[in-house]
Amino acid sequence: MELKGKRILVTGGAGFIGSHAVDRLVAEGAVVTVLDNLSGGREEFLAPSRGNIMFVRGDCGDKTTLDRLLPGMDAVWHLAANPDVRSGETDPFAHYDQNIRVTYEVLEGMRRHRVRTLVFTSTSTVYGRASVLPTPEEYGPLLPISVYGACKLACEALIASFAGTFGLHAFLFRFANVVGPRSTHGVIVDFVRKLRADPERLEILGDGRQMKSYVLVEDTVAGMVHAVRHTPLPAGADGSCHPYNIGSLDGIDVVTLANLVAAEMKLTPRHVFTGGAADGGGWKGDVKVMGLAVGKLQRLGPGWTPRHGSADAVRLTARSLL
Ligand SMILES: NC(=O)c1ccc[n+]([C@@H]2O[C@H](COP(=O)([O-])OP(=O)(O)OC[C@H]3O[C@@H](n4cnc5c(N)ncnc54)[C@H](O)[C@@H]3O)[C@@H](O)[C@H]2O)c1
Repeated sequence: MELKGKRILVTGGAGFIGSHAVDRLVAEGAVVTVLDNLSGGREEFLAPSRGNIMFVRGDCGDKTTLDRLLPGMDAVWHLAANPDVRSGETDPFAHYDQNIRVTYEVLEGMRRHRVRTLVFTSTSTVYGRASVLPTPEEYGPLLPISVYGACKLACEALIASFAGTFGLHAFLFRFANVVGPRSTHGVIVDFVRKLRADPERLEILGDGRQMKSYVLVEDTVAGMVHAVRHTPLPAGADGSCHPYNIGSLDGIDVVTLANLVAAEMKLTPRHVFTGGAADGGGWKGDVKVMGLAVGKLQRLGPGWTPRHGSADAVRLTARSLL
């Protein structure tokens, strides 16, 4: 599907990944409306695209707002969510409410107004403690260990059912840890904050040996556009549903990541480990080892491969935050 001239509603478009997606969609010639309640996003992130987009401050779980914005849209890129995996330990309801309920409202709105294409940002955490690494899209059974992962998987299931029942074309992007400029949360932001407060000592959740893939936001958004552009969609009234992993081709452990961040800050702090979960994960619900197979996206055709490895992505992110 081509993007030029398409009318696209981007929920969560003022967030970290959302604002990069908006910049890219505008560059592709799409006509973009951003819907964001600024619970986690910042209006200033939309500065590069200001003048080329419409920004609406509002909640995408709100039927009235959706009924105002959805008529005439060609697609919804639904990124709005509670992205904080760790908060599931203390506030599981927020994940149900901001992920499952809100996504259901978006789907129902799309059904009412016959908007047929949905781009959804899911997560590697749907795989849980995967026994196959790097994990391909067809891996199963999907048994998330975090409430966040469970709620994203529930969203995927709802979306698949709307594709099967109401003719929706859906893209489900399962991201590794996305990092880059405008990051507002996650381990790099956390380490920079801690090291600014105490340059001598760095607290690391878990045992520091959690091994994960970190992908630069620019590679992430390029992958999304690549998939939307090159995935063949059935003609006629039938819907379709397309899961794609997006990650880097390698992974790094948390101690290495901590050293990269500290080096960017020209510091050599002492590490203090919290122990975390029984398996060495940072907290209960943290997957200790994560890597995603991205061959499905690469095989769609030339034009996409992650240009940055995990260490490079972390370095660039730390630099952009300092
Ligand atoms: N950052 C990652 O590593 C990562 C990994 C996997 C998946 N994801 C997913 O990617 C998407 C974007 O994540 P992000 O890291 O950019 O987080 P973010 O918090 O920067 O972006 C989410 C945006 O959604 C907005 N929002 C939240 N609830 C809303 C609501 N009900 N109505 C309107 N706006 C609302 C927030 O204000 C924010 O701007 C999320 O769906 C997240 O679950 C992120």
